[in-house]
Amino acid sequence: MTLSNTTAIILAAGSGTRMKSSKPKVIHEVLGKPLIRWVVDTARQAGVEQIICVLGHKRNVVEPFVEADTTVVIQNEQKGTADAVAVCRGAVSSSAKSVLVLNGDCPLITPKTLNDLVEAREASNAGVAVLTMEAPDPHGYGRIVRDAGGMVERIVEQKDCDELQDAITECNSGFYCFDASMLFDALEQVGSNNSQNEFYLTDVVEIARANGRATIGVKAEDVNECLGVNTRIQLAEATKILQLRINHAHMLDGVTIIDPHQAWIGPDVVLENDIEIWPQTFLAGNTHIGEGTVIGYNSRMFDTDVGAQCNISETVAIEAVIEDGCTCGPRAYLRPGAHLCKGAKVGTHVEIKKSVVGPGSKVPHLSYIGDATIGEDVNIGAGTITCNYDGTNKHATIIGDKTFIGSDTMLVAPVTVGSDVVVGAGSVITDDVPDGALALGRAQQLNKEGYTQSHKPKE
Ligand code: UD1
Ligand code: CA
Repeated sequence: MTLSNTTAIILAAGSGTRMKSSKPKVIHEVLGKPLIRWVVDTARQAGVEQIICVLGHKRNVVEPFVEADTTVVIQNEQKGTADAVAVCRGAVSSSAKSVLVLNGDCPLITPKTLNDLVEAREASNAGVAVLTMEAPDPHGYGRIVRDAGGMVERIVEQKDCDELQDAITECNSGFYCFDASMLFDALEQVGSNNSQNEFYLTDVVEIARANGRATIGVKAEDVNECLGVNTRIQLAEATKILQLRINHAHMLDGVTIIDPHQAWIGPDVVLENDIEIWPQTFLAGNTHIGEGTVIGYNSRMFDTDVGAQCNISETVAIEAVIEDGCTCGPRAYLRPGAHLCKGAKVGTHVEIKKSVVGPGSKVPHLSYIGDATIGEDVNIGAGTITCNYDGTNKHATIIGDKTFIGSDTMLVAPVTVGSDVVVGAGSVITDDVPDGALALGRAQQLNKEGYTQSHKPKE
């Protein structure tokens, strides 16, 4: 899809009072992604030429989420939706034919609907195309008043409705496409003579008509797309709808999801064929999972790359890489920089941080591995720990290939253990170990024969 010559203005300057939050509303997350990012990314997928975000309330907190790929315009005082668009006048590209106005708190809108709205306006050369909806509960929305010819005559806010208008069920979704050449002049004519003393963007409809322009209403096929998030209940509703929208698409694409209500998959997650997702699993950010891999129960992954034919259960992974054929969990914790090479195994109650576990190597039980590089076919015995932190600095542990580290070994970094090494269980390894050696770093066992007998109390 491409909407060249279209600018999208995303309104996000309001405070979102009804969220009762110290965070601005638009950075509350749905499936691991802030509300405003959903809208920005949808506009981007629709192929618009330019995206402008209007920020105001707590702009410093919102800006980091959008400044990299959109133009940020500041509305200092929230005087209404017309004012929020008017402040963008100087920022809109001179090549823009259409201006889309989107709400930063409506994460369900799709690229197709935005395309249809722009196409409908351009095809009819209307001054305004309004996306409308048949709201199941119209209370709180602006009402669409149509004229005898079916054009939108005006939009009346709930608080300004008379009894007849209150009964109208067709509502303003808050999404519009305007003719760029008339929008900003029309905005200068908008007044604030209404019950909220605000400058209403919706008044542009009447101004466009007075200038002889067509004003069309395009009804949304799915009202869910227009759902705005004003409360935390609506945040949960939006999450539920998007969860199922995403999961159903993956299922139709060849992914098994045991219970689609119990898997939360972010919009940017990529899943290959024949994956199985078990319940209570959360996948977010730029996570990618390879073909035939099984993920679940109770797994959480963020920005993690998992290969094909892996078996992952009860694993938390953040910015980790898991290559093909690995086994992970139950109860594995892979922190940023954990890299499991082909066929590696990380077992139960194991934490890995910024470390490479070589091909076919195993860390099966109760270990902490940090700042380490482990070679091929290494076995790390239960309870082994890389002592990587001296209280001030972090140090590296290097282990060669085919080495066997006995259970309960402390590897005091910096330390290098060669290839084909055997380390005796319970060792504290402080010095480097050469290839092929046996390393024992523990007190020698002492047996005192007859001890029990000689210590028996005299009768
Ligand atoms: C608006 C529409 C209403 C529509 C509804 C759909 C107007 C006058 N009314 O009402 O017809 O049914 O959306 O959800 O437009 N904002 C700013 N700066 C401001 C004011 C608002 O950036 O000065 C932003 C808000 O952060 C929000 C969006 O604009 O993202 C909508 O504003 P809001 O006050 O929520 O409008 P509604 O009363 O919901
Ligand atoms: Ca709103």
